[in-house]
Amino acid sequence: MKNLCTMLLAAIALSVTSCGNNTTPDSGSANTAKAAPAGETIYKNNCSTCHMANGQGVPGSFPPLAKADYLANHEQAIKMVVKGSSSEITVNGDKYSNMMPPQQLSDDEVAAVLTYVYTNFGNTGAVITPDQVKEIRAKY
Ligand code: HEC
Repeated sequence: MKNLCTMLLAAIALSVTSCGNNTTPDSGSANTAKAAPAGETIYKNNCSTCHMANGQGVPGSFPPLAKADYLANHEQAIKMVVKGSSSEITVNGDKYSNMMPPQQLSDDEVAAVLTYVYTNFGNTGAVITPDQVKEIRAKY
């Protein structure tokens, strides 16, 4: 009789622990991805390491995007992002001859990130379209 009691107790203990193991099903994360590429996100992921989050660049190494006179020419700005450059350029009176690698971004992404740059950092507020990027990409 004593044995049966122990067995019963053990069985109860077992069922209690297995009840406690009850796993809640994964609720699944909501898909919040946006259809249009967000310029700010692309900037943070692809540009800010060199040009800094605020677009100030690094004196002597990486030119600023903030209030950069280089951006007045949209074509050369697009070309820079699509094709990269290692030739000497002058931005706001300072010379740079560092290397900017061509960015592996789609026309839509280049348009979005440049529009982000133009509409922030004290720049002119210009909008760059995917068609412009496509045209410049094909030209060079
Ligand atoms: C690995 C560092 C690096 C990354 C990443 C980078 N750049 Fe650059 N960028 C440079 C350098 C260096 C130059 C100057 C190139 C030269 O001297 O020919 C430059 C020049 C530029 C210029 C023209 C000069 C100016 O300051 O206006 C623009 C516009 C530009 N980059 C935009 C971008 C954008 C937009 C991204 C992200 C999509 C990006 N860059 C990512 C290093 C980088």
